[in-house]
Amino acid sequence: MEWMNSFENEIEPQNISNEEQKMQIAKKVAEKVKDGDIIGFGSGSTSYLAIKEIAKKIEEEELHIIALPTSYEIKALCQTLKIPTASILEYRPDWCFDGADEVDKNNNWLIKGRGAALFKEKLNMVNAGITYILVDDSKFVENLGEKFPIPIEVYPEAVNSVKEALLDLGMTECILRKAEKKDGPVFTENNNVILDTKFVEIYETLEEDIKSITGVIENGLFLDYPIEVIH
Ligand code: A5P
Repeated sequence: MEWMNSFENEIEPQNISNEEQKMQIAKKVAEKVKDGDIIGFGSGSTSYLAIKEIAKKIEEEELHIIALPTSYEIKALCQTLKIPTASILEYRPDWCFDGADEVDKNNNWLIKGRGAALFKEKLNMVNAGITYILVDDSKFVENLGEKFPIPIEVYPEAVNSVKEALLDLGMTECILRKAEKKDGPVFTENNNVILDTKFVEIYETLEEDIKSITGVIENGLFLDYPIEVIH
């Protein structure tokens, strides 16, 4: 028997900024969906709108696809919209789509992870041939880090040693992300914490340098991945 979806009224993003532009982008990505596709579904409000457009297309054209969601919200949204889901343990994505927090268009560099789903977002992206990055004009910056910090997902007990190592890489600010509706930090879906950080400079190997610190699970720098920006 199917469950009643308890997330149903909780997953709609509130006050979507630039909604009209995001809606146009959502329609563009829905056009790319073909029967039989295995698609990595990103998180955030633009992805949310794209998923609703994709659901319409699936119904109208009787398509069969499988979604590999990057967060529980998106998995629940798929359940509501009757889009079958699986995990990357079972399937490799043919392609993905996702939002971003900042795009340095000159370098194809991104900051992602405002929604704390960066680990699965990167896991999908590295395993897909192409990821469409869905962004409204507000996301373009001259230099990454202008508007958003770089989120770093850290194993909670390693937080002190990781911080020390990040300082050696030129970190200038570090804030443990706090939960809004409970005391204490945000815990990711992998039971880790997020450090929101700033650096003196974002250089080519910084993503790899951060990743090489023991205790770092992933970071929100996405430098030089196979992406195509749709805006
Ligand atoms: C989620 O962790 C982020 O990487 C999102 O992709 C990002 O926050 C985009 O959100 P919007 O589409 O709501 O701007």
